[in-house]
Parts: sequence; structure tokens; C-alpha cells
Amino acid sequence: MTDFLDAGERLDREELAALQLERLRATLRHAYENVGFYRQAFDRAGLRPEDCRTLADLARFPFTVKADLRDNYPFGMFAVERSRVRRVHASSGTTGLPTVVGYTDRDLDTWADVVARSIRAAGGRPGHTVHVAYGYGLFTGGLGAHYGAERLGCTVVPASGGMTARQVRLIQDFRPEIIMVTPSYMLTLLDEFERQGVDPRSTSLKVGVFGAEPWTEEMRREIEERFAIDAVDIYGLSEVIGPGVAQECVETKDGLHIWEDHFYPEVVDPFTGEVVPDGERGELVFTSLTKEAMPVVRYRTRDLTRLLPGTARPAFRRMEKVTGRSDDMVILRGVNLFPTQIEEIVLRTPGLAPHFQLRLTRDGRLDALTVRAEARADATTEARAEAARAVAAAVKDGIGVSVAVEVVDPETLERSVGKIRRIVDLRDTTP
Ligand code: DLL
Repeated sequence: MTDFLDAGERLDREELAALQLERLRATLRHAYENVGFYRQAFDRAGLRPEDCRTLADLARFPFTVKADLRDNYPFGMFAVERSRVRRVHASSGTTGLPTVVGYTDRDLDTWADVVARSIRAAGGRPGHTVHVAYGYGLFTGGLGAHYGAERLGCTVVPASGGMTARQVRLIQDFRPEIIMVTPSYMLTLLDEFERQGVDPRSTSLKVGVFGAEPWTEEMRREIEERFAIDAVDIYGLSEVIGPGVAQECVETKDGLHIWEDHFYPEVVDPFTGEVVPDGERGELVFTSLTKEAMPVVRYRTRDLTRLLPGTARPAFRRMEKVTGRSDDMVILRGVNLFPTQIEEIVLRTPGLAPHFQLRLTRDGRLDALTVRAEARADATTEARAEAARAVAAAVKDGIGVSVAVEVVDPETLERSVGKIRRIVDLRDTTP
């Protein structure tokens, strides 16, 4: 039954831990010897790579944050000669310089392997056709998915993002079993299927591998029902490698197995930085175990989740679906609110389409939030008014804060072509 698993996936917990320690020590040495930033950071903490004797010792080492990567822009975090760097990617970042990441030949190989493993866990098999609608380019989504699907032995359709009408045509004509795309762009595709009068449940698609942004169980249900597919979660970040750091297995759909033979996870208290025990929520931190061009040591993702024991891949711990990034948290009159909490409510409310936006304004000295949600095409005026009331009440009851709710006409909110931006911050433009 486990014939199709690769060697890494077949390790038991003990073998995995031994491999992790060996790789961790090598990574710390590699980082210390080849990257000025790490040498200085370890020296300042009074630590040498050899001081890491157990996996738990990693907690003594300093964190790395996004600003460290920016400070070393563009190539200062690379640990190998430039001539060995075969590819770079970069994440745009909303402010300032992009974060640049690099890969050696072996890193690209590792990346293809972990994405192939991820697609297989999602239900993909050699011979399947994979439609990749993640953006190609500096973003890691498109090329990451692409080489992983090829590595698994699939036929790849490198559609990239955008040109939505053409995507629908390609899906009908090329008959892919798998689609890899952000969940928000999948909804844009859904609209387009309907606009073209094609039943989205009639396609050849069996599985969607969705990630690059947070999405909820409610969104899973919506997409699964509307397309008649299985929807599973893929997680990753460019600093760690790109997509393929963790993947949800289609047979359990119970959170994402972290490919711990390559990426060592910790969860820390976001305020104190202390490691919290498995099962407790906090900020996810990663140390790469096999990367050559750009090893990362205790990189703070800002993503909030918790670690759980493995299920479908017993050796690997799972991470719960990411509910949000600390960056996306809105603090409204002292109450913390994440866009995913609003997503859950909007998608549960009759009469509303799965499209919404959060508008932050300043009302005197206080911040105010307006949830703008789209009506479903068949919603009556009364149904819209009822939906607005229901969302406001659910936010008040469930999250504990008052928000304004506007139900807008169908097809008026901006559609996603990749990662969606839920929050429109108008606080600087309002009095
Ligand atoms: O988004 C890599 C990726 C591409 C992952 C395609 C999955 C699919 P970055 O652009 O560096 O890399 O953004 C990384 O996106 O820290 C999370 O905040 C968020 N993110 C990625 N996957 C998920 C997910 C890619 N499945 C940042 N659920 C991460 C929630 C996710 N958030």
C-alpha cells in the first residue's frame, strides 16, 4: 500500500530525527562558514554550529526575519559562489525591496522532488495532466508547480495566471485531472465557466491543489461542490523554497504534512519567541535542512498555525491550515480579526457569493471596518438585507466587534488573478 511512497516518506520517526539532526548540524555549519549574516548572528549569541547537539538545541540559535533578507539584498544571504546559483526568484513584498532567493542545481532538484511528493499526496499520479495557473515568473508558484509535476511524470500545461477565458477553454480541450492555482483565482475561473455557459462540474478535473494564500474549510466546501473535485492545501514560502514545504493528503484532508526531511519546523510564541509545545498555536518558524544556495536558520514566517502528529504520512508532523499571517491581523478597537474569520462567515451566509473585501477606514480616532460582500445573482433585495444583518450579527457574536456590512451587486468586486488582497486600507485617506 505504501509502494508509491519515496524513501523519505517511508522513514520512521526515529530515523527521521537522526537524519534531521545530521542535516541540521550540516546546515548550521554551512550557514556559519559561508554567510556573513549568520556568522555575525551566531557570534553575537555566543554560539558555534557545534553547540547544536540535539534538535532541541536549535532553540538557542537566533531567528532570521524578512528584514534580514532585505538588508542583504540582493545576494548577501547566498552561501555558494554566484556561478553555482542556477536560478533566482523574488517575492514582491508590499513595501520596499523584494526578497531574493537562490537555488543551486541540487536545490532545484530537491524542490522538484518535494513538489512531486506534494502532488502525489494530493492524488496526482504519473500520466495525469496538470494545469498550472499559478503565476510564472519571479513568484515561485508557477515554476515550482511546473517542475514538480514534470518530476512526478505528469503532462504540464503551463497556463500561468490571467487570460481567464482562455484558461476555461484549455481546461475543456486538454482535459487535465489536476489544477494548481490560488483558491481565489479558482473562484474567478468559476465565474468564467458560468459566463461561458459551461457546467464547472462537467470538466475532467478531479483535484485542485490550492495555496499561496489562506483559505478556509468553508471555501473548500464551496470549491468542491461547485466543481465536483477534491480540494487540498499546499503551503510554502519563497524564503524556505517555494510551494511544496507542506501538503495536505487527499485521503485525510486534515491539515498539511510538513516535509520534515527537508524543512525543520518550530512553532514559537509570536511575542516572546519561546518555542511552544506541539499542539499549541503560534508562529511557524523554519530551518532548511538540505538547501545549498540559501540556507535559512529559524526563519520567522509570520504564519500562524500549530503542529500536530502525522496521519496519512505518519513520520511527518502536520501543520493545521494557516488561519492567517500576523501581518494580516486587523486590530479593531482592541479585538484581533483575521480575514479568514470573515471568509467563514460570508461563505456560510445564504444569498452571498464567495467574494468579499475588507475596507479599513478611520472614523475620528477609531478604526472602522466595512465588510463588502457580493450578492449571489439570484438574491432578492430582502435576501440581501437579511444577509447584511446576518454577517454583522455573526461578526459581533463570533469575533466580538461591530463592523459595517455592505452587500454589493454581483460582479462588482475586483477579481483575483493570483494572490488576493482582502484588506483595502484607507485609513490614511480618511479623516
Ligand atoms: O506563496 C509559495 C506558494 C506558491 C505556496 C504556490 C503554495 C502554492 P510567497 O510568495 O513567498 O510563496 O508567499 C509565502 O504565502 O508565508 C503564507 O503567508 C502564504 N501562503 C502560502 N501558502 C499558503 C497556504 C508562496 N496554503 C506566504 N495557506 C506564506 C495559507 C499560505 N497561506
